Amino acid sequence: MTAPERYRLTLRINGQQHDMEVEAWVTLLDLLRERLDLTGTKKGCDHGQCGACTVLVDGKRINSCMTLALMQNGREITTIEGLAEGNALHPMQQAFIDNDAFQCGYCTPGQICSAVGLINEGQARTVAEVRELMSGNVCRCGAYPGIRKAVCAVAGIADPDNAVRPVVTATVPA
Ligand code: FES
Ligand code: FES
Repeated sequence: MTAPERYRLTLRINGQQHDMEVEAWVTLLDLLRERLDLTGTKKGCDHGQCGACTVLVDGKRINSCMTLALMQNGREITTIEGLAEGNALHPMQQAFIDNDAFQCGYCTPGQICSAVGLINEGQARTVAEVRELMSGNVCRCGAYPGIRKAVCAVAGIADPDNAVRPVVTATVPA
């Protein structure tokens, strides 16, 4: 049996150049986890449904399970491992700690990368927009209130608590 064909691939990952040869079917997620030991990026559904695999490609968030590594040839990839500057956490990482924004932590690398990408996009101006634009990242532990607070804190969006627990009248039985 002949060996499967491999193709040359160059990626800059967390500031470091990687020159590799990969098969055509290798996803970016599997390349990161299985070949480069960057296991901070998580595999949840492997079908573009949960956001656990979110990384940044040229600063934009992407589900790494849904793209072939070869499709990103020449691009700059940032994973959760590349966000801190030495011992100094990225402000979004610190905000997740400060706001109790995780429980088991499995979704957290994807949540943080997605949040950094969200801020790069510059689209979110309200708590409701943060909720909508982060909706591709699922948290099975239900840490959403803390996640929203952390993202809003870094984005400079005021009063996240008020939106997290809105007062809805006439819903409590007498
Ligand atoms: S593992 Fe990629 S979206 Fe769930
Ligand atoms: S913290 Fe457990 S899945 Fe989000």
